[in-house]
Amino acid sequence: MTGDTDTGATPRPAEPAYRRPLLTRIQQFVLASSKDHAFLDRPYFGLVMALTPQRWKRPLANYILSLSPHYFLPNWEKKYPADWTREQKVEANGKEGLAYRRKVVDTLVLPHVSTESVMLDFGCGPGVIANMSAPHVGKVIAVDVSRGVIDISRALEHPANVEFVANRKDDLSFIPTGSLDLVFSFVVLQHLTPDQVQRFLQEFYRVLKPGAKTVFQIKLREEDQPRYNPGTGNWLHRRTMLRMVFYSRAQIRQLMLDNGFTQFSVTDLRDYEGFENEWDNGQIVIASKLA
Ligand SMILES: C[S@@+](CC[C@H](N)C(=O)[O-])C[C@H]1O[C@@H](n2cnc3c(N)ncnc32)[C@H](O)[C@@H]1O
Repeated sequence: MTGDTDTGATPRPAEPAYRRPLLTRIQQFVLASSKDHAFLDRPYFGLVMALTPQRWKRPLANYILSLSPHYFLPNWEKKYPADWTREQKVEANGKEGLAYRRKVVDTLVLPHVSTESVMLDFGCGPGVIANMSAPHVGKVIAVDVSRGVIDISRALEHPANVEFVANRKDDLSFIPTGSLDLVFSFVVLQHLTPDQVQRFLQEFYRVLKPGAKTVFQIKLREEDQPRYNPGTGNWLHRRTMLRMVFYSRAQIRQLMLDNGFTQFSVTDLRDYEGFENEWDNGQIVIASKLA
């Protein structure tokens, strides 16, 4: 699994759905069309994974995930030799995604946790960051809006202290106030509507213990970029496009202050050691709840 803003690959413009091969379009229609921007949000993935023999679970999961715009970059196949099979390309892309997320965990999670910590991975996707963080903390609550992705994550091998939760609400009401040591979120807030970002930042603040931190990625807007891309094109395109929302520095500052975070920093991910050559991974916000 790779993710939409990662691995150092050269970004390419998204290919409109109507120009994709018919088979891809059918696959996307059946598997990836989304309501509420929740890709792979289908009840049958859990059953399919449960019926699949153990040795095929991982390749099947990677294949299903490769249909979602959240986990594989647009046109991701094109960076591999044309004579490779799709399975070879999916496997190679999956390995790159794992190596990249290892760096993310080492750099952005581990400095902020202890073996006692209870952390939230908000927008966990297939749980790579949650699973890699688990040996270093007491517990990980791994939350995603997509029921299908959560079912897939549960069906794959994962540490016992990771709890996967599908949450379709625009709040974290299932988490008690002041109960978490770290709220982490990577390449998620950039896909939410501005209203959702407000709502979830408010929730991040609420669920943190006094003095605890949130570490999350968000995207700064380049000067000529629109703030909000709600998706255009035909029905299929709208159901398979990935929403991107960008913020100015002033807007990020206001979002933090509006939601109670008076102490925070915003750092380009490329300023972190090991990420200097990444093409674009946005900004990392680190904020503390007042003790
Ligand atoms: C690009 S993926 C990143 C996955 C994971 N954070 C990683 O880096 O491996 C974005 C994830 O955010 C999830 N997501 C989008 N909206 C969400 C919401 N309202 N609540 C929880 N998760 C959400 C998507 O389903 C998707 O799994």
